[in-house]
Amino acid sequence: MRENFKGRDFITLLDYTKEEIETILDVAQDLKRKRANGKPHLLLAGKTLFMIFYNQSLRTRNSFEAGMTQLGGHAHFLDPSKIYSPALEGDEKAYATERVSDVARVLARMGDGISIRIYGDPVEWIYGKANYLVNNFAQWADIPIINMECDKYHPCQAMADILTVKEKFGGFSGVKFVMSWAYSPSVHKPLSVPQSAIIAATMMGMDVTLAYPKGLELDPDVVKASEEYAKKFGGSFSISNDMREAFEGAHVVYPKSWTSKHNIPPESEKPEMEKTKELFDKNKDWICDEEKMKLAHKNAVYMHCLPCDRGFEVTNEVIDGPQSVVFDEAENRLHVQKAIMALTM
Ligand code: CP
Repeated sequence: MRENFKGRDFITLLDYTKEEIETILDVAQDLKRKRANGKPHLLLAGKTLFMIFYNQSLRTRNSFEAGMTQLGGHAHFLDPSKIYSPALEGDEKAYATERVSDVARVLARMGDGISIRIYGDPVEWIYGKANYLVNNFAQWADIPIINMECDKYHPCQAMADILTVKEKFGGFSGVKFVMSWAYSPSVHKPLSVPQSAIIAATMMGMDVTLAYPKGLELDPDVVKASEEYAKKFGGSFSISNDMREAFEGAHVVYPKSWTSKHNIPPESEKPEMEKTKELFDKNKDWICDEEKMKLAHKNAVYMHCLPCDRGFEVTNEVIDGPQSVVFDEAENRLHVQKAIMALTM
């Protein structure tokens, strides 16, 4: 099975079969057990991961970096402003940028994997451009490219999310998973987390509800893929425009803010963040609080990828309360990424 993974990119879960995703979860659980038992697992001894971060990060950077150390390898942190910032053809600025095709081929001669985070300002909020750049790296590098979050997908986060559900509920069948929009004072939030979450949850056969106020629809291609997975893998997929209705009987609630795809290019001519702010401000009641948690199943868990906007997306009582599993979820980033790196690199 390991040979099926070697050399492959990890950009979206859509590129992997359900069986392959289950294998990654199995390997992650094995590596988690080994770490807990203090057993060495130097599967990437002497290997190098180059991490390019166009955006800030706490969890992603540190889980990849610690993960590579634990696997016996090393992760280099690359700030695009301190190298010649990798740029697409047409975006080049003399002696400030270097074409992605060149950066990819240089790093591929020196290391064993490249991981990239890019969304939002570095791609002028043009939806799909960050994903295109990550795929451009994959086109040119003959070593695995790992997506650390682009504007469409955050596949490593989704892997940690489903590992956490598996651990809390012992499996996925019959689990009602609610991915809900929640209010934030910031409109600068990509769609990657909810999009990858609904792909992963439907692929695992959960009963998935996507909830958001009208105007905050996700990418129709992602919704279509989720509907198809729900049919194929025995779960269900529905959309609600009512947070309370969505929470009824839920086993997993995942309330998180994301921006309006309708107000960024290519749907709008330029980013219209003020319009999105108006839409957000009409929906300040989309907060995960104790009253809404009471609507969910008595054993329900509260999830969030973090960082969260306390007092806006969620109350302190919920995120710090007994139903919150956010730190297990954050820890699981380490274990799933170690599995992805060990299998692909
Ligand atoms: N969840 C997540 O990706 O966190 P960071 O932005 O801190 O990496």
